[in-house]
Amino acid sequence: MPRVTVHRKAHFNAAHRLYRKDWSNEKNFEVFNKCSNEYFHGHNYELIVSLTGEINPDTGYVYDLGHLKQIIKEEVEEPFDHKNLNIEVEEFKNLNPTAENISVVIYDKLRKIIPDTLDMEITLYETPRNFVTYSGN
Ligand code: NI
Repeated sequence: MPRVTVHRKAHFNAAHRLYRKDWSNEKNFEVFNKCSNEYFHGHNYELIVSLTGEINPDTGYVYDLGHLKQIIKEEVEEPFDHKNLNIEVEEFKNLNPTAENISVVIYDKLRKIIPDTLDMEITLYETPRNFVTYSGN
């Protein structure tokens, strides 16, 4: 059976601040620049979840994208959208909410639900020009 990749795009906007509590404001600014602003700032995050696997001969699907849409809504959009990631989202209380770390958190949440037979990749745009990918390695 051919292996095909299906993709679902989603969106959330959220505020964050990149900093380490154990560093001074000056040191945080040196490393994280404007992203260390103590009053936070926001991004329009664009998320792409990609699943690769064999086409199910019964349905013709790799994975039901309507189902994937619902999972992303429950696991990512509802907990993250219009939130302050540092303050309101448990996973980032002690984890710097960089695009890298956000993509790993999203991957880990979805991996628990998506069947093991499918490979998964997360693509997360923090800005139209800055994005990261993570596929579990
Ligand atoms: Ni930022």
